[in-house]
Amino acid sequence: MMKLIDTHCHLNDDILYKKLEEVVDRAKKTGVEKMIVVGWDKKSSERAIKIANRFPFIYAAVGVHPNNIEGVDEKTLDDVLNLYQNDKVVAIGEIGLDYHYVKDETIHEKQKQIFIKQIEFANLVGLPISIHSRSAFFDTLEILKKHKPLHGGVMHCYSGSVESLSEIIDLGLYIGLDGPVTFKNAKTPKQVAVEVPLEKLIIETDAPYLSPQQVRGTINEPSNLVYILDEIAVLRSMSKKHLAEIIYKNSCRLFKL
Ligand code: NI
Repeated sequence: MMKLIDTHCHLNDDILYKKLEEVVDRAKKTGVEKMIVVGWDKKSSERAIKIANRFPFIYAAVGVHPNNIEGVDEKTLDDVLNLYQNDKVVAIGEIGLDYHYVKDETIHEKQKQIFIKQIEFANLVGLPISIHSRSAFFDTLEILKKHKPLHGGVMHCYSGSVESLSEIIDLGLYIGLDGPVTFKNAKTPKQVAVEVPLEKLIIETDAPYLSPQQVRGTINEPSNLVYILDEIAVLRSMSKKHLAEIIYKNSCRLFKL
C-alpha cells in the first residue's frame, strides 16, 4: 500500500478530537502512516502534543495563528512556543498573516509582530515553520525575505500563483497543497500542482476544513488525503505510487521525521 503523511491536520479540533480513535483508524487504513497535528493557540497546541504523545506515528506543531492573536501577550506567546521542548514537536505552526476578515491595520501590525517573533523563535530552536497566509501574500513574502526561516518550512495550503512559486522556493520553503486542488473550478491550484518542482511538494488535508471535491460538505479527515494525491497524480500524468514516494520523502526531509 502507498505510504502517505498528512503534514497539516487539526485532530485537536473538538469535532475530530471527540472521535479521535476512529478518525486515526480510518487514516491508517487509507495509507496515512504519519500525521502532524497543528496548533493555532495555547490550548490547541497543548492538545496537539497530548495527541502526539498518545500515538507513536503522530507529531505536533505549536504556534499562534494570525486569527487567534486577540489577548495574546508576550507571556502567552512564550508559553506556547516553549511547548517546543516536547520531543514530538516537529514544527512551529501554524503562523502567518490573515487579512481576510480583518481590515484594521493595527491588527495587521500585531499579526506581523507575532509572526516575526515565531519565525525567529523557530530559527533559534532549529525547527521548520508552517505558514498560513490569506489575503496577505505580499506582506507575508516581505517578512519571510527579511526574516528567513533557517530550518525551512511550508507555505501551507498555497493559494498563490504559478509565477510566485519561485520566490517561495528560493526562500527554501515547500509548497503545501490541500483539498482545493481537487475542486472543479480551481484553476490556479491545478496549475500550481503541475508546475511546482516535485521535490518541493507536500500534501495536507487541513482537516476538519477544506474537504476535497469527492467528499465536499462533509467534515474533512486525514483519510481524505488520498484524494489530493490522486488529483495531483492525474494532473501530472504520474503513477500514484511514484508521486506518493516522492512526497513522503519530501515530508520526512522537511520535518525530520
Ligand atoms: Ni490549518
